[in-house]
Order: sequence, then structure tokens, then C-alpha cells
Amino acid sequence: AIDVKTLRASSGMITLDPGYKNTGSCQSAITFLDGEKGILRYRGYSIEDLAEKADFLEVAYLLIFGELPNKEQLDKFHADIKAESHVDEEMKKILDGFPKSAHPMGVLSSLTSALIAFNPSSVNVSSESDMYHAIVRLLAKFPVLVAWTLRKKKGLPLDYGDSSLGYVENIHKMMFRRPNEEYKENKIVIEALDKLLILHADHEQNCSTSTVRIVGSSHAGLFASISAGISALWGPLHGGANQAVLEMLEAIDQDGGDTKKYMAKAKDKSDPFRLMGFGHRVYKNFDPRARIIKKAADEVLGDLGVEDPILDIAKGLEQEALVDQYFVDRRLYPNVDFYSGIIYRALGIPVDMFTVMFALGRLPGWIAQYREMRLRGEPIGRPRQVYIGENHRPFVAVDLR
Ligand code: ACO
Repeated sequence: AIDVKTLRASSGMITLDPGYKNTGSCQSAITFLDGEKGILRYRGYSIEDLAEKADFLEVAYLLIFGELPNKEQLDKFHADIKAESHVDEEMKKILDGFPKSAHPMGVLSSLTSALIAFNPSSVNVSSESDMYHAIVRLLAKFPVLVAWTLRKKKGLPLDYGDSSLGYVENIHKMMFRRPNEEYKENKIVIEALDKLLILHADHEQNCSTSTVRIVGSSHAGLFASISAGISALWGPLHGGANQAVLEMLEAIDQDGGDTKKYMAKAKDKSDPFRLMGFGHRVYKNFDPRARIIKKAADEVLGDLGVEDPILDIAKGLEQEALVDQYFVDRRLYPNVDFYSGIIYRALGIPVDMFTVMFALGRLPGWIAQYREMRLRGEPIGRPRQVYIGENHRPFVAVDLR
């Protein structure tokens, strides 16, 4: 009799599922998603409740450690993060080496990788305590890298945070504080940012999360695995969609604002153009995050008194798509990225920083997934293939080819 292991290794049959549309890669207790019903829950708590009642740091704790923290646990977690918020001064030289035109996602991925050199003890996460320290360090230093990436773009001095502030307020201050100007906190802006980060915090086995898990499955360290996840998130079919949405809306505006023309382009199969911000691999119903964020976008724009022609174009596309047979048949609804870019723009965040903001929100999810994968002792990720190339060929010397 042949045992299961030998059978697997001898590989008579391979499951072929391009894009893993129907293949589970792991068992996970972190995020529940029902794309048909439009349900999203972190550790059993509905995204609606969390976005309304929790703050981002509580949600980060919940995702990573499995339970909502009590006051004492949350205070300790925050204090541990604050104690690690220094980034080595030498990192500024690395940032200096990038041209101003460098895409912030490339910069962020490189800086996250470079952090390893200055925190070598974070590479080995084999004990719970090592893992905790690596997690806390990353949650502390990553926002500094995000803020520095933005400040370099804007030509502002690179500085550190304010430990008297909450996690998200501190991020906002680090990003936007101007020299010789008093920083004025805006509650509406901070609340909107907090909500956006919560909504992006995890989304089970998407492209970047699967990347983090598969890189980590070789026992690469946490920072290296997350740097790889940032690269995966960069693409326009994934996290880069929020930037692509805004660029598309701007292009439509500059072209006279004719939304019908672009709807037709999206439906034309000979044209590679897609309506960015519409459709989702898993949600075949309205993305629950999009519902929450749409409401938040309306509130923030109303409160800040923003009037934006781009917003009218977005509303036009949304309304047309909801009744268009092509979009209805394929169940293509606006996704979270359709609205997040609109809020980021209202908050004064440059377009090519949008995906960086997504990465900032997704960080606790990536960490939680990495931790779960390591704690479960999952095997190295190594998909198979179905070979379709040439059969055995005789070698031909270069002068005879
Ligand atoms: N505009 C026009 N047509 C679309 C769109 C779109 N945005 N999205 C899907 N379709 C069409 C496809 O052409 C295809 O049509 P067909 O059946 O006639 O060939 C059908 O809908 C199914 O599309 P797939 O590409 O097979 O769906 P998949 O699940 O592989 O892709 C994806 C999902 C990548 C999100 C896709 O909808 C897309 O490209 N959307 C635009 C980019 C975007 O907004 N990405 C963000 C995703 S959310 C996130 O990462 C946070």
C-alpha cells in the first residue's frame, strides 16, 4: 500500500486552479468573509461594529492576538509600541538615496526591508516573546517610515512622533506637521483616518496576504515577509487600485467628464480599459467596506466643506453601473478602493501615497496572518505546476543554431 505522503510526492495528479479562484491555501481563524452575502468579520466581530465602536489599535490587537484587549492590555500594547518608535538615523541616508520621483510603495518596501539590518534581533521569531517584540517594533517603526516617505516627497524635514498622542493621531501629526507651525488636530480627519485603517486591516487570503504567508513559510523574518507583501499590494489590480481610481476619475474629468463614454470603453472587450474600483474577486455583492466608507466619504466631504468635480464623476459612474446590464450580469459593484481614494484626496494625501495608506491599514492583518502561519507550523508554500513546454530536445551547438 502506498501512503498519502508518497502519493503526494509522486504527483500523478495535480489540481490546476489559475489565480487560486477555488483553492484554499490554509486554515485561518482571523477573518471571515462571505462574498455572496457581503459579510466581513474580524475574529468574529462584524466590520460594521468595529468601524463604528473600536479604534485602529484595538482592532490591530484583536487581529493579531485573537481577542479585544481590556484597558490594561491596550495601554501596555500602546506603551510598548511607543517605546520602540525610534528609527535609526542611518535609515535617513537610505531614504536620501532615492530620487524624489521614486514611487512611495517602492520606497516603503525597501525601507521596511532595510529595517532588518538595524533590528537584527527581530529576524528570529521562534519564541512567543521574540515574536511579540518583532510585532511591536514593526507597528512602531512602520508609521515613521510612512511619514518619512511622504515628508521626503513634500521636502519637509524628517522627524519623529509625539508619544503623548494616540496611535492614529500621532501618524497624522508625523505626516502633516509643518516646521514652525503649531499642529492643529482635526477630530473629523482623525476619525475618518481611523475608520479607513480599520476597514483595510485584514481581508483574508488576498494577493499581498498570501505573499506574506508564503514568504514567511520559508521562515523568512516578519519584516522581510511584510516587505514582500508591500510589493504585492502595489499592483493596480490589488492595493494600487485606489490610486488607479483617482487617476481614472481625473482623466475622465480632463476629457470633459463624459462618464457614458468610459462605461462603453469598460464594456468593450477589444479595449483593455477596466472601470477601476469596480468588481472584486470574492464579493459578488456590495463590498460591506464600500458601504461604510461611502457613508464616511459623504460625512468627511460635508464636514470639511469639500466640493469636488471628481466626486460628481464618481457618483455618476456608480449610478450608471448599478443599472447597467453588463455590470449587473457580472455582479460588478464599487469596491472599497472606489471611495477610499476620494477620502484620501479630501484629507490632503497625494495620489501616489494612497496605496501606502492601504499598507498602513493592512499591516496588522499581515502581522496576524504571519503569526498564525508560524504558530501553526505550516509547511513551506510550494505550489505545483502543469508543464506545457517542449519535451526532451537534443542540445544544438551555438554555431549550428
Ligand atoms: N470593468 C469592466 N469589466 C470588468 C471589471 C471592471 N472593473 N472587472 C471585471 N470585469 C469583467 C471581466 O472583463 C470579465 O468579463 P467577461 O466574463 O465578459 O470576460 C468579468 O467581469 C469577470 O472578471 P474577472 O477578471 O474574471 O474577475 P476577477 O475576479 O478575476 O477580478 C478584479 C477581480 C481583479 C478585482 C477585477 O474586477 C478588476 O480588475 N477590477 C478593477 C481593479 C480593482 O478595482 N481592483 C481592486 C480590487 S479590491 C482590492 O484589492 C482592495
